[in-house]
Amino acid sequence: MGDIENISKNPENQLKMLLFHRNPELNGRLETFVRMLEPANIVVITDPDFYEKKLVGEMATDHELIELNRKYYSNSYLYRSNPDDVARTEKDTYISSLDEKNAGATNNWMEPEHLKSRIFNLIKGSMKNKTMYIVPFILGPAGSKYSEAGIQITDNPYVVINLIKISLVGKEAINRIENTGKYVVAIHVTGTLDKNNRYIAHFTDEDLIISVNTAYGGNALLTKKGYALRIASVHARDNSRMAEHMMALEVTSPSGRKYGISGAFPSASGKTNLSMIRTPTDMAGWDAQLLSDDIIWMHINNDSLYAINPEYGFFGVAPGTNATTNPNAMKAFNRDTIFTNTALTTDGKPWWYSLDPSVSEVYDWHGNLTTDLKNAAHPNSRFTTPIKNYPYLSSKFYDNEGLKIDAMLFGGRRSDLIPLVRQAKSWAQGVLFGAMIRAETTAATTGKVGILRNDPMAMIPFCGYNIGDYFQHWLDMGKLVQHRPEIFYVNWFRKDSDGNFIWPGFSENFRVIEWIASRLDAKANAIETPVGLIPDIANFASGNLGKNKLEQLFEIDYPGWLKELNEIEPFFKKIGDSFPEELWREFHNMKDGVEKQ
Ligand code: GTP
Ligand code: MN
Ligand code: MN
Repeated sequence: MGDIENISKNPENQLKMLLFHRNPELNGRLETFVRMLEPANIVVITDPDFYEKKLVGEMATDHELIELNRKYYSNSYLYRSNPDDVARTEKDTYISSLDEKNAGATNNWMEPEHLKSRIFNLIKGSMKNKTMYIVPFILGPAGSKYSEAGIQITDNPYVVINLIKISLVGKEAINRIENTGKYVVAIHVTGTLDKNNRYIAHFTDEDLIISVNTAYGGNALLTKKGYALRIASVHARDNSRMAEHMMALEVTSPSGRKYGISGAFPSASGKTNLSMIRTPTDMAGWDAQLLSDDIIWMHINNDSLYAINPEYGFFGVAPGTNATTNPNAMKAFNRDTIFTNTALTTDGKPWWYSLDPSVSEVYDWHGNLTTDLKNAAHPNSRFTTPIKNYPYLSSKFYDNEGLKIDAMLFGGRRSDLIPLVRQAKSWAQGVLFGAMIRAETTAATTGKVGILRNDPMAMIPFCGYNIGDYFQHWLDMGKLVQHRPEIFYVNWFRKDSDGNFIWPGFSENFRVIEWIASRLDAKANAIETPVGLIPDIANFASGNLGKNKLEQLFEIDYPGWLKELNEIEPFFKKIGDSFPEELWREFHNMKDGVEKQ
């Protein structure tokens, strides 16, 4: 390693000599940023294990990372972020393509050169006295032609450590970039964390991302939402592929049949939990293995859709996770994990309310000793854990083609109206299901929690181009794929009149998967309604749930649906000309059906 650090005394020469010597164009881009940022030092992360240990050690010495009690959590640390930098900030997120139409009605836009000059003014000289880390990464299986590569520059060791945990970092990535000549450049500058001058900018015409004045995961780990969703959705549009905010898992039935199931739910609405689902005790023989907990990239293979996971780790929501709701997550994050903004017990364990309600006093996420337990962990506190720690990983994770997808789920938090599960009658109606997602907002992004907002395909914060064109792309993909996945809409969050969840959720969601599997096998019957096909509750295996509750879960309130459709219509209209005609037809079909009831 010594060689790299020595040569780094002359940063520009080092780049020429060491890094992308077969790729002068990339070297040129890097040199521009080296001159602009003026780092004191440059480190290239060629050996991720070595640098992870080194940086963790340095941050622990500086008390920026707090080592957790080794008796319960090995090689694991707590990090407290700046209190003004705890969630994604969508108002600062830009899709900057030369043509404003490419941002569409739902993304912030600024003319690329204008946005760049603003950002360049902010970041000029901002790495003086700091080390610049160059992090080369691969997204997806190392040998897959569907994988992509890039480099992230950052001045933040916390970001480097997290990147190493959630992407494939190191020499293989440099080789891939040199062999393919294809890469995305992502620049991250911690800056002053000034929330009034924060930018997460995606220059979608030139495969460039720049993020400044933030170090929060979703804003600063640019391999994740920035590249694997925003930039990759543009690549997917141009290559008949899909890049989706979806979990995916491989389900095996007692007879050994395999089902690939993916699901898009808005942030903090259950993807990670569903991807780690445990079989209920009375469903012996069923099994589920994880492909991805947050993002998949899909391509067509053998006339079917196949999914790979571009990530190598989890950046999961901590609150709500515990031995009952998600025991499998707990088997993964008890080692090699960075917890961000959770509380801390007095004996050095990470903590949030549902994890252990028996304690009486903890250090809150600011580090103050408190008995105010409900607010002690930040609601968007997270764990960063390498995926290889997860005990039930699908073998398809390492497969260059990935997992064949048989069913896709849409969903979101809805305390009323939306039934537990329903199936689309056709691909086009399924696309409408996705486009119609409205969900209660969560702490994953700054702003009010619990407000209904439109979040089609759970992609509103992540679609790198015009959302109307994105809907058209979904419709087109359905025409290109012969064996189209069936599309379903689920809602685990319907509440009764006392405000309690009617459906127990978590591992009980396996019963919905069972129904979906029997629909795929054309075994279960379904009842046709204007809003889709719903189970015949006489034959729906609902575990211990009483008939009365089941009826509440599947109740279709037509006046409520008409109101829903009327509230969604202005959002669709706002999208304008790019909103596909075919989708309007589906929408009006549904509305006519509902009106006739
Ligand atoms: P991002 O990682 O932000 O994209 O979110 P996510 O979709 O992965 O959400 P996650 O699985 O982390 O769940 C968020 C919250 O929803 C957690 O507090 C969970 O405990 C809760 N949750 C997940 N599944 C269920 C469920 O089936 N029922 C109920 N009631 N809550 C759930
Ligand atoms: Mn997510
Ligand atoms: Mn998640």
